[in-house]
Amino acid sequence: MEKIFSNLHIDQGATLYTITGGGITAVVSDLGATLVRLMVPDASGKEDDVVLGYDTAKGYLEGTSYLGATVGRNANRIAGAAFTLGGKTYTMAANEGANNLHSGPDCYHTRLWTLAEQTRSSVKLALDSPNGDQGMPGNARIFVTYALDGNGGLHIVYDGKCDQATIFNMTNHSYFNLAGHQHPEKAIAQVLSLPGRHFCPDDAESIPTGETRSVEGTPMDFRSPKPICQDIDADYEPLHLQGGYDHNWEVFCNPCATLTDPESGRSMAVYTDCPGIQFYSGNFLNEDGKDGVHYGKHAGIALETQFYPDCIHKPDWAQPVVEAEKPYHSETVYRFSWK
Ligand code: BGC
Repeated sequence: MEKIFSNLHIDQGATLYTITGGGITAVVSDLGATLVRLMVPDASGKEDDVVLGYDTAKGYLEGTSYLGATVGRNANRIAGAAFTLGGKTYTMAANEGANNLHSGPDCYHTRLWTLAEQTRSSVKLALDSPNGDQGMPGNARIFVTYALDGNGGLHIVYDGKCDQATIFNMTNHSYFNLAGHQHPEKAIAQVLSLPGRHFCPDDAESIPTGETRSVEGTPMDFRSPKPICQDIDADYEPLHLQGGYDHNWEVFCNPCATLTDPESGRSMAVYTDCPGIQFYSGNFLNEDGKDGVHYGKHAGIALETQFYPDCIHKPDWAQPVVEAEKPYHSETVYRFSWK
C-alpha cells in the first residue's frame, strides 16, 4: 500500500492499492475506485502500462475524459437529464447540453471510496451514495472489486443495494493501448473484433435514435477483426456525427470484444453480463497523462460494458432498474494474453 497524490484536493488523502496475479499488476486508487495502472507483459516478457491515466490526484479530479474511472450510478447518457421511475420524475444535472453524461458533474470517480477488503490479487472498495445523489432515488451502498484471476483475467465486479428502486448501470471507463500508453500514436492501429451484429446510431447530441442498425456493409462491421484506423474516416454519417467511433454495440456472445496489438503480441478479450458495449475511439481526448505523455485524439480505446445508452427512455431495451433492497450484481472481465 502506497500513499500518493500529495496535491490531492480533498482532505483525507488517497491511497494506491497494488494487486498482482498471473504476470499482471494492477494499481487501483480509492480516489474514484479508479484503475490507475495495468502492467501487462508483451511476447518477450517486457511489461508496459496498457491503460491511460494521470500522475496525480489533481489529474483525476480535474480531467475531463474519465481515464480509468468507475462510472455510476448510470454510465453514458440520459436524454433531457430526467427520467421517470415508479410514476415519479427524477431530474439530474444537464452536464452535456440538455442531457446527462456519466451521472455528472458530481461523478463517482471524484469521490473517496473506502477499502472493504484486500488480498494479494484483489481489492474491494465501497461507496455510500445517498438519496438524491446525482438526482438518483434512494440510499445506495455500492462495491467495486478488482480481482486478478492468475490466468490473465482482470475481473471488475459491481455489487449494490438501494432502499428504493433505482438505476444501477455501472461501468469502467479505462482507455486501452496495448502498445503501451506511452505510444499514443499506436492506439488506433490496434486490431478490434466486435461480434455484435447491431449498433445504435445516435443523433447529433449522441443520444441513440432508438434504431438498432445492422453493421452489414458499414464501417461499423468488426465481425472480422480489423485495425480501428481502417475505416474510421469513412464517409458514413454515424462516424461524422461522433468524430469517429463512439457507439453502443449489442452483446450477444462472449467475448464481446477482442483488442490486439500485433506488434507487442498483447491481446485483450472482453467478457460481460451487460447487454451492450460502448466502443469509444477517444475522439475528444486532449489530456496530459502519466509519465509526461500527452494523449491526443484517438490515443486510447474505451470498451465500456453497460446497458444501452438512454435505455431508460426506450422501454423495448433492457432496463437498468433494480428494485428496492434487491441486489445489483454485474461483472466484466478483461482477459489478457501475450504471445
Ligand atoms: C462517451 C463519449 C465521451 C467519453 C468521455 C464515453 O463514454 O461515449 O461520448 O466523450 O465517454 O466523456
